[in-house]
Amino acid sequence: MNRTPIKPLYDNVRLNCTIVSDTHIDYLHRTPAWPQALLTAAVIDAEENTVRTDAFITIGDNTSDGIKQNWDMVKECYAGHNPAERILLCIGNHDTWGDDDHPYDAINYFKEYTEIICGRKIDNTYFAEVVNGYHLIFLGSEKDGGCAAYISDEQIAWFEKEMEKAGKSGKPIFVFCHQALNGRHGLPRTWGYPADPNWPADEGGIGDRSEQVAAIMKKYKNVYYLSGHSHMGLSGESMMEREGFSTFEIEDGLRMINFPTTACGNAYCDDASQGIGMQLEVYDDRVVFRPRNYYDHEFTTVVIRDGKPYAEYPLQ
Ligand SMILES: [Fe+2]
Repeated sequence: MNRTPIKPLYDNVRLNCTIVSDTHIDYLHRTPAWPQALLTAAVIDAEENTVRTDAFITIGDNTSDGIKQNWDMVKECYAGHNPAERILLCIGNHDTWGDDDHPYDAINYFKEYTEIICGRKIDNTYFAEVVNGYHLIFLGSEKDGGCAAYISDEQIAWFEKEMEKAGKSGKPIFVFCHQALNGRHGLPRTWGYPADPNWPADEGGIGDRSEQVAAIMKKYKNVYYLSGHSHMGLSGESMMEREGFSTFEIEDGLRMINFPTTACGNAYCDDASQGIGMQLEVYDDRVVFRPRNYYDHEFTTVVIRDGKPYAEYPLQ
């Protein structure tokens, strides 16, 4: 295959990240090597970027069940590679699930393998990192909350403080959470295929903290909320015109981006291919999200905004 290395869209990129979601590494998969190949392809693509990648980021569901066998397979995808200055793993609902044969707490595996894969210790499933002066804030379910996220009062208080710190930077702020805010990006309809008309309005979303989390973010400018979870694939402006939802949505100034699954099936979209994630490039005057098929090593062609195959946001 002819591999075209990633090249940032413009000169002087200030923050350069590769982001994937829902890799669902699973030793019980019909072909366990397939999701592994998709994650590994993204790792290699990040490693080969013409500009050093600042962070390789996942938005959860690293595994289909948060058990040792699966985490060992995740580890294999990163082994022998140096994709970025740092690797940051967000927890997904599947990462909070163990199984009957593996009663060891999945949350502990998430922390343990974060240390093994990323080389950094985390005390909680939620954490923040400042990269090149930009605040990256990761929300995370603290226990098995079903498909929604369990977010404690402590996490909400911590999030408020982190947002306050981030707001003082005057730079764009990036919030990562596996689940989208309730009802956005076509939810609950886009939660599964076929959709069940009886699903409650919050089905497939973050859960009962949704409006609290939204209100905290809306106090600040240039905030980006990045999620996965719904496996809805990649859609642009034509989907918004046709169906009223998209991968990229804006609400009261809050910019929301729902990532396709990198290694699972996608539905309700313009491009259902596996292997898709996004390059996040931050410049002094704009933020750009560039969907890319890491397995094909090519940027995707779906028109996202203003006739372009990427989303470009000027600073507010
Ligand atoms: Fe998932």
